[in-house]
Amino acid sequence: MSGPHGAAPTLPLAAWEPRYHITAERNWLNDPNGPIHWNGRYHLFFQENPAAPVWGPPHWGHVSSTDLITWQRHPRALSPAPHGPDADGCWSGCIRDIDGTPTAYYTGVTGDGDARVESICRATGSPDLAAWTKDPGNPLVPGAPTPDGTGYHRDPYLWRDTQGWHLLIGSGTRGDEPHGTVLVYHSPDATQWTYGGVFFAPPPELNAPGGLGQHWECPQLLQFHDAWVLILSIQVPDADRPLSHVVYLVGDLDTDTYRFHARASGLLDAGDAFYAPAVTTDQFARHLLWGWAQEDLPPEQQQHLRKAGALTLPRQLTLSGDRLESKLPRELSGSRQHVSESADGTSEPGPNPARPVPAHAEISATDLGTKGPARLHLSHTDGLTALALSVDPARRSFHLRTRQESGTRQYEAVLPHGADGELTLYLDGSLVEAYYGGTAITTRCYPQATGSWHISHLSPDAASRGLVIRPLHDSLIAATGERARGATDVT
Ligand code: FRU
Repeated sequence: MSGPHGAAPTLPLAAWEPRYHITAERNWLNDPNGPIHWNGRYHLFFQENPAAPVWGPPHWGHVSSTDLITWQRHPRALSPAPHGPDADGCWSGCIRDIDGTPTAYYTGVTGDGDARVESICRATGSPDLAAWTKDPGNPLVPGAPTPDGTGYHRDPYLWRDTQGWHLLIGSGTRGDEPHGTVLVYHSPDATQWTYGGVFFAPPPELNAPGGLGQHWECPQLLQFHDAWVLILSIQVPDADRPLSHVVYLVGDLDTDTYRFHARASGLLDAGDAFYAPAVTTDQFARHLLWGWAQEDLPPEQQQHLRKAGALTLPRQLTLSGDRLESKLPRELSGSRQHVSESADGTSEPGPNPARPVPAHAEISATDLGTKGPARLHLSHTDGLTALALSVDPARRSFHLRTRQESGTRQYEAVLPHGADGELTLYLDGSLVEAYYGGTAITTRCYPQATGSWHISHLSPDAASRGLVIRPLHDSLIAATGERARGATDVT
């Protein structure tokens, strides 16, 4: 969009800001941290740089919810302490119930570059998780072990079994052919830790989609009956973007040696914005996951954002054979009740695809793809930006193409055999999340003007019977009156 008299283009920054996804109150957010259901509430933390809309010394932001839809913001949980083992950042980690006390295990960071030390620290929370006290004994583990350790020694993930507590760490090797590793520690009391060696390194025959990168971050481990799933965020330090992708490995855990053996792998999300997810198992034994939805803007544009980065909606993970599937938890399928109808009635279900689709909306189509290939295209009122979704169950393909000023991109998720069911597309400013057949695609799409979308193509026509467009408002994340306040367009 050109400004008057050929002035520099105006960026519709406020229109890009998500409203019903979790963001930092202001400025930068990256990884979700420490999701946990505690005393009747879901608590979720995240990496936050309160000082600028770019990555910087991480703090832990904090929100909570009773229903996974409406979130309340709390005071920041952790901040770097001058002269402490986390002086340069409280990086990612998890929260566990240690003998009744909520306890955050996180990465304390000091120094930079080759001098950076990544240690394991912890803090205990008040019963309402509002106040956090760092352990005077920090760091619990002062840095990478020898000989397996490199500089990368981050993102503790704990679990307990009959033999005690175990802690995974994301790491990697250096040298000519660097590769990721996951290290393991053991403890009887979650305080004194003994290094237990390499929990998992990539065997030569392992061929994960998208590759296995150079080191691994944010390992997450889940048990589904007798199968174990290891989730890894794949890092290639010099790659541009995406940063990079998330792989899941399905396999066995040998509890004599605490070594993981993978037999199958897959991509957790087929888009290019999804990274560093964190999981929790809730009071209903559901495995819930949130990821970080990254921005995709040149730095000179990103620096003007009021908020950069958001968390994805929660996803419920299930294992079907050796496929890890992501679906919306039932609270979100029920989220329709929380949607207020807009004055022009655009939330009305029905066969009228000509209705405008608001910039913050959920679009669902129940019949799409059940009887063959189907397509749903949306065009933005800026006249340039467009989204094209297609489902082809016979070819096992769920496909999203985005067109925006920076170019055209395509993403494809591989569907299970016989996939059908509901397509759900979430538009939230620049954030796009699409779900179908247990797969998910997360990306960003930045319209060049404030406006809305409309459905430019829907086939087959019969599919329109199942089409529902629902505007979603801030009620979905009841942030404390912080929405779009003060957001201005910049020239
Ligand atoms: C993943 C990550 C983690 C680290 C955190 C720092 O995005 O690099 O490995 O703990 O971000 O913010």
